[in-house]
Amino acid sequence: MNVLVVGRGGREHALCYKFHQDTSVSKVYCAPGNAGIAAHAECVDIQETDQGELVTFAKENNIALTVIGPEQPLAEGLTDLFLAEGLKVFGPTKKASAIEGSKAFAKELMKKYSIPTADYETFTSFQKASDYIKSKGAPIVIKADGLAAGKGVVVAMTENEALEAAEDMLEHNRFGDSSGKIVVEDFLDGEEFSFMCLVNGGSIIPLALAQDHKRAYDNDKGPNTGGMGAYSPVAHLPAETEEKAMNEIIEPVVQAMMKEGTPFTGVLYAGLILTEGGPKVIEFNARFGDPETQVVLHRMKSDLALLLLNLLRGVTAQAEWSDHTVIGVVLASEGYPGSYEKEHSVQTILDAETFFYHAGTKVHGSDIVSDGGRVLLAAGSGEGIESARDEVYRALDSVHTDHFFYRKDIGSKALKRS
Ligand code: AMP
Ligand code: GLY
Repeated sequence: MNVLVVGRGGREHALCYKFHQDTSVSKVYCAPGNAGIAAHAECVDIQETDQGELVTFAKENNIALTVIGPEQPLAEGLTDLFLAEGLKVFGPTKKASAIEGSKAFAKELMKKYSIPTADYETFTSFQKASDYIKSKGAPIVIKADGLAAGKGVVVAMTENEALEAAEDMLEHNRFGDSSGKIVVEDFLDGEEFSFMCLVNGGSIIPLALAQDHKRAYDNDKGPNTGGMGAYSPVAHLPAETEEKAMNEIIEPVVQAMMKEGTPFTGVLYAGLILTEGGPKVIEFNARFGDPETQVVLHRMKSDLALLLLNLLRGVTAQAEWSDHTVIGVVLASEGYPGSYEKEHSVQTILDAETFFYHAGTKVHGSDIVSDGGRVLLAAGSGEGIESARDEVYRALDSVHTDHFFYRKDIGSKALKRS
């Protein structure tokens, strides 16, 4: 079959690399793709938001399955259009993707169906938000309601910090329309992990657990980012964690979405935190996580395209995994998640002896140059977290990474516990 992936980041590179290996797939296309994706897929020059052109391309190229990577085209209804045109697509409809696109929608759904998450209130008025923050005290968490590329969350350790964040979002439009409404929620303490599931209506295929590293700098310091590194599996979590998360969170949400008349098809990504009271939801995403997908799919032994196509046809199989641990370290442009320069060569970095997923690169003459905040993800694998870490950091230590930075402590929490 021919497969089309929509997007241009590391997650889409991982999807294309996987589909390229799947025996059921004859040809992989990616719109628009990047310099790394071009090694495993044919990149086509169509933007993620060019709905009409994507549909025409899928029809003309006999695409049996389209997978939409990023949140924006999902929120804009790309899935709805593909479905209306009779095309097979793996991704939620515009309505269902509100589970990611509106934090208020997700929180209300969880409250209604008693799905464990932090207590919260939503506000559009700074005065009311401010009264609430003062009554609750710190630590407390302020979130922009809409999409903000993983950056619209402030975990405030002091009341002042919380008030500033709320003022910034509500009074100064920090994230434009996305922060016209905010969610203020209780701070949850515990270990975070990501649980992605392939979902179609009531059918669920769980993917292996992963752990992301959201803060920009070592020891979880600095601002929140889209994600600076990940690994899978998360072997030190108690054995019953996944089952609990499935029974208390994933299953009930999937059922709730059906009851609400917005059945979910696509990747339901639960960002969870293991509190003393069990796993609780920090956020839902309506798509594959980035960088979690790179490390999770790197371990997948099953034919992903077949798994997805069968799931869309109502046949649910379980995914199979390699026992190896895979770790991914993101190289980001200096300055990210703030402003940064583009067009620095990554060619010598790519000489390092490890596999690279490209997140933001492009071809420039005979060179490959940076083209985004997150630029590359170096992937290492080994029998355990220690050997996987050794592999990836040995490779990165062997090259010059001027203009870029990466965290040196990806997976170190797991190391301490293993
Ligand atoms: P989000 O974009 O909602 O995933 O939030 C980004 C990051 O902020 C999360 O990965 C957590 O590290 C942190 N965070 C979000 N909500 C909470 C919470 N209620 N308690 C503690 N930390 C949180
Ligand atoms: N790594 C977190 C996300 O994809 O939202």
